[in-house]
Amino acid sequence: MKVLERAKELEASGRSVIHFEVGEPDLPVPEVIKRRAAEVVKTVELKYTESTGIRPLKEKIAEYYEKAYSINISPDQVIVTPGSSPGLLSVLKVVSEKVGKVSYADPGYPCYKNMLRFLNLESVSIPVNPESGFKISLRDLKTEVLILNSPSNPTGAIYSKRELEKLSEKVFLVSDEIYHGLVYSGKAPSVLEVTDRAVVVNGFSKFFLMTGWRLGWVVVPEWMVEDMTAVLQNIAISPPTLSQYAALVCFEEECLSELRRNVEIFKRRRDLMLQGLKEIGFRIPVEPEGAFYIFADVSEFTNDSYSFAFEVLEKTGVAITPGRDFGYNETDRFVRFSFCTDEKDIEEGLERLYRFLREGI
Ligand SMILES: Cc1ncc(COP(=O)(O)O)c(C=O)c1O
Repeated sequence: MKVLERAKELEASGRSVIHFEVGEPDLPVPEVIKRRAAEVVKTVELKYTESTGIRPLKEKIAEYYEKAYSINISPDQVIVTPGSSPGLLSVLKVVSEKVGKVSYADPGYPCYKNMLRFLNLESVSIPVNPESGFKISLRDLKTEVLILNSPSNPTGAIYSKRELEKLSEKVFLVSDEIYHGLVYSGKAPSVLEVTDRAVVVNGFSKFFLMTGWRLGWVVVPEWMVEDMTAVLQNIAISPPTLSQYAALVCFEEECLSELRRNVEIFKRRRDLMLQGLKEIGFRIPVEPEGAFYIFADVSEFTNDSYSFAFEVLEKTGVAITPGRDFGYNETDRFVRFSFCTDEKDIEEGLERLYRFLREGI
């Protein structure tokens, strides 16, 4: 956030900034969703809805699991939330009370740790390293509940079906699958393909590109529905009505096929960025299979990636995220590059980095 703030200041003062720090897809929301939203404004009274979402959307999401993963879930297990974040917060509240202590990967998505802290819950971070592909394995398990993120932010790592299966035999999994759909090699299996003793957290912000529409969902076992409803009634009342009705169109083929074409765009960007970063001298111990990030080792250039990120921003106008944002485990060695920017900007950003880091200009 501090990098983003400084990047904005530099831009306001007239500097050109290349944004490799943002975690928000730049591509536009499909027209068909926007058109549907415009119709909804005219035809639907935008009052509160059921606190866990409108029935037709729950049904569409349940059907999507059948189509995309051959998983049979009941629409009653689907809880629609205002973005996946409040969904995750509510899940952590309920599972920590009913199942036990929670752990999460370090480096990993910072909100896990922060949410657990807000909830005043004791939790355990699990260091993950390049040697294990930044993934948690059986011998790392220390608690009853484990948050997994696959594809992962910040590493793009994906857990295989076998890995999910083994972990799910030992621990209750809260699987953050928000980057599902954005997969470049292999496949990202859902945890629900291997067990029904788990929670899936997902939403419309990444593959569906709808960050500002604040819409997500969780799939929970039946025994969690009542408690989840109680939490969400109190913290959110209901998910946004306009977004829910508009999102009904997301699962139609016209929309899905446009979104799938975007994956090709992200893949080209990933390949371009990977090649360019390697040429400059960044080590990429684990190449991303999904999401839109590259977690790069900067030890060739610095042992303090936090200062490095600011120096790079000041000298080149390229904004990147220091590893420290994602935890404490050797994160001074890493920075995260995101490829939520077009190929022209990626080339320009790489060029600036090359000149600064290799030629000293
Ligand atoms: C791993 C991960 N989970 C969840 C979220 C939150 O997404 P939402 O917009 O659905 O709240 C993000 C956003 O960057 C993320 O990277």
